[in-house]
Amino acid sequence: MKYKIMTAQEAASLIENGNTCAVSGFTPAGALKAIPAAIAAKAEAEHAAGRPFAINVISGASTGPSCDGVLAKAKAIKFRTPYQSNADLRAGANANEIDFVDMHLSMAPQFMNYGFMGQIDWAIVEAADVSDSGEILLTTSLGTAPTGLKLAKKILIELNEYHPAAIRGLHDIYETANPPMRREIPIYAAGDRCGKEVVKVDPSKIVGIVQTNKADEVGGFKPADPITTKIGQNVADFLAAEMKAGRIPSCFLPIQSGVGNIANAVLGSLGSNPEIPPFTMYSEVLQDSVIDLVEKGRISAASATSLTVTPEKIQEVYSNLKFFKERLVLRPQEISNSPEVARRIGVISINTAIEADLFGNVNSSHIMGKNLMNGIGGSGDFTRAAYISIYTAPSVAKGGLISAIVPLVSHCDHNEHSVDIIVTEYGVADLRCKTPIQRAHLIIENCANPEYKDLLKSYLSSVKCGHTPQTLAKAFAMHEAFVKDGDMRKAVF
Ligand code: COA
Repeated sequence: MKYKIMTAQEAASLIENGNTCAVSGFTPAGALKAIPAAIAAKAEAEHAAGRPFAINVISGASTGPSCDGVLAKAKAIKFRTPYQSNADLRAGANANEIDFVDMHLSMAPQFMNYGFMGQIDWAIVEAADVSDSGEILLTTSLGTAPTGLKLAKKILIELNEYHPAAIRGLHDIYETANPPMRREIPIYAAGDRCGKEVVKVDPSKIVGIVQTNKADEVGGFKPADPITTKIGQNVADFLAAEMKAGRIPSCFLPIQSGVGNIANAVLGSLGSNPEIPPFTMYSEVLQDSVIDLVEKGRISAASATSLTVTPEKIQEVYSNLKFFKERLVLRPQEISNSPEVARRIGVISINTAIEADLFGNVNSSHIMGKNLMNGIGGSGDFTRAAYISIYTAPSVAKGGLISAIVPLVSHCDHNEHSVDIIVTEYGVADLRCKTPIQRAHLIIENCANPEYKDLLKSYLSSVKCGHTPQTLAKAFAMHEAFVKDGDMRKAVF
């Protein structure tokens, strides 16, 4: 190989205070494993010497502890976008020590391309292979890495031996032109391919290679509990009934599913429901449950930007690569999350809400109106464009002290015009073509926890008129009761 092999410390020594780094990673999949720790050590040394040091970090979504974790702990991040899920980074964002910009994930590469994020100094990416001619084979995620590689002035690569070069063919890297030259994305079914297997860069931009051998830091899932299982069944039963009623074609439609335990339970229920035929996924993240359903033939094709699976599961994929390359496609996130494609191919989106209100507005990202949890992620990319948009949530949080159904969401990520269905363990509220008052009654009857039904009804009956019955003075009484007395049930209407 003609590139300079260097240590992570040597690589980090090249990064300067205030540099903007586009890093690989969408979840811990494909995230950096070595260079960020060395940047963090450099930051700590600079801080100890009384000098400022912090960088701007753009990734696909969240990354792993070896990237966001170490950098946030060392106070080495000045600006961060578009998503995170790390405790230290979250604390920094909520204390306004880190400038965190929460962004629709399909938009991040566009903002980079349009120049809205300024000059990208470095692309720092994990790769499974690099050729002398500048062909870079990315690993378990694509995210914004292709865009970062194209725009950055200089490139550093973590060449991770853990990922075999034989994964070539898993990726489909299609680039969109900037308006007014952009054309439609030629994807007509979830498994379609229209791009390249590798990212090609000018090899003279590659400043150095750091060798690693480390699995993605993807943890396992909690086993499904009675609540997540019931939510999963409710979603599957609803979709099966829609198909029976002829509102979903009998060949079914592509599914987008969020991440986490509820998403895993929903996919498990869809996979095991005998009334639902084998289906495809046009999603953002593929988790362990998807691999299992592909193996069982329940999922025939799955498209995403990230293969966020545990080390055991990725080994299953790597030991049967030919089979999986025919069924899995990894795309850049502006393609995996493209609202244009999602609308056209009829994606059914299924995401998780922190809270939903009586009229169908959904909060995915903030606690009690102010503190960031993770971010909007790709939920908005899919929700607004979906054939049917579904939000799931357990009816209560914190042992019942918080209701997921509230009079008015304390932060709005998805508004009532984009949210079709709300599902809790108690049932399904189908909000399509319903007035705000009809929606409110349906959500209380079908989704609210029994401990909160009377409270929500009394809120509704305390408002006498208006197309959307809302009382600004009382709309946040349940939130205020939690903040003041630690229990939403103490609200009085
Ligand atoms: N008020 C306060 N806290 C709440 C809450 C509420 N209304 N609802 C949930 N929480 C807390 C839970 O108690 C839990 O806290 P803990 O970590 O201290 O235990 C935490 O939020 C996570 O909730 P959980 O029920 O475990 O759900 P989850 O892991 O499935 O995450 C979201 C739910 C909404 C935070 C997560 O799905 C998310 O970040 N979504 C936005 C991005 C997205 O949709 N991505 C997918 C698009 S493809």
